[in-house]
Amino acid sequence: MTSADAAPAPAPRTPDDVPGWFWKTDQQVFGWLLDRQSAAGTGGDILELGTYLGRSAILLGSHLRPGETLTVCDLFDSDAPDDDNSAEMAMSYRGSLTRRAFEANYLAFHGRLPTVIQAPTSALADGRIPAGSCRFVHVDASHLYEHVVDDIRVARAALVPDGVIALDDYRAEHTPGVAAAVWEAVFEHGLRPVCLTPDKFYGTWGDAGALGQELCARDWRGEGFRMDQDTIAHHTVHRLAWDEPPAFAPESPRCATPHRSVPRRLALDLLPPIATRALRRVRRHLGR
Ligand SMILES: C[S@@+](CC[C@H](N)C(=O)[O-])C[C@H]1O[C@@H](n2cnc3c(N)ncnc32)[C@H](O)[C@@H]1O
Repeated sequence: MTSADAAPAPAPRTPDDVPGWFWKTDQQVFGWLLDRQSAAGTGGDILELGTYLGRSAILLGSHLRPGETLTVCDLFDSDAPDDDNSAEMAMSYRGSLTRRAFEANYLAFHGRLPTVIQAPTSALADGRIPAGSCRFVHVDASHLYEHVVDDIRVARAALVPDGVIALDDYRAEHTPGVAAAVWEAVFEHGLRPVCLTPDKFYGTWGDAGALGQELCARDWRGEGFRMDQDTIAHHTVHRLAWDEPPAFAPESPRCATPHRSVPRRLALDLLPPIATRALRRVRRHLGR
């Protein structure tokens, strides 16, 4: 029996029921960025490269305003354009991913489908996404360096001047090619980092300073997030992650290293390194 013949999965009741890699911190940052754009009158379409079963696309679709469109591009159940990409697909997605399953998930939350481009993201290099038409682009498709370089190029051309790009897996152990492409875009192609979460890099080719300042104006810490600030080659970057509230108030200023609760610190210190790493991995995948 193939996955296409299998009984359909029950309809998801919340977007978190949809399998995927889109966790609390990034759900909140996406929502905040898209709401901020709406409040500031920054219009434009939304583009997602790499959709899988729709977990992040469902949130993107819920931020569309009248006249805006969401376009998603994914291979779904089509062949990958090269062997390395085929291997990546076989390892991570082939057992579970069909376009039909994505569409069913999306329609559980929205009245109509987004524009679906079932193709390698390289197909977008033909200019089918009009230049300067998008306010937000989420790049979460292939993890191969050459592909991500091209995806960033597509995103840059598609974005309005103050548009935002979100890049997944910019620092994961198994995705060095993404890291290389992302930081190359910063150092060679003018991308300005604004916010880093455990899973995603957020940047703009527009006014990063204004965006960063507004980001800091939300009381993320009061809501239980950890927030720190770094300077990377003159770029001010805000690091944001979901964390339990500290056991006591930090004495250091805003954006300094957070305190961990005593029990959590002890647990992390006392566990053998393998268990500590495993625990951190699980926490990261839970968005914590
Ligand atoms: C990590 S998943 C996306 C996860 C999704 N954004 C979420 O939040 O759940 C990566 C997706 O990229 C797709 N993909 C991989 N290589 C691709 C390529 N060259 N072109 C288009 N899609 C690709 C895979 O089919 C898979 O659905």
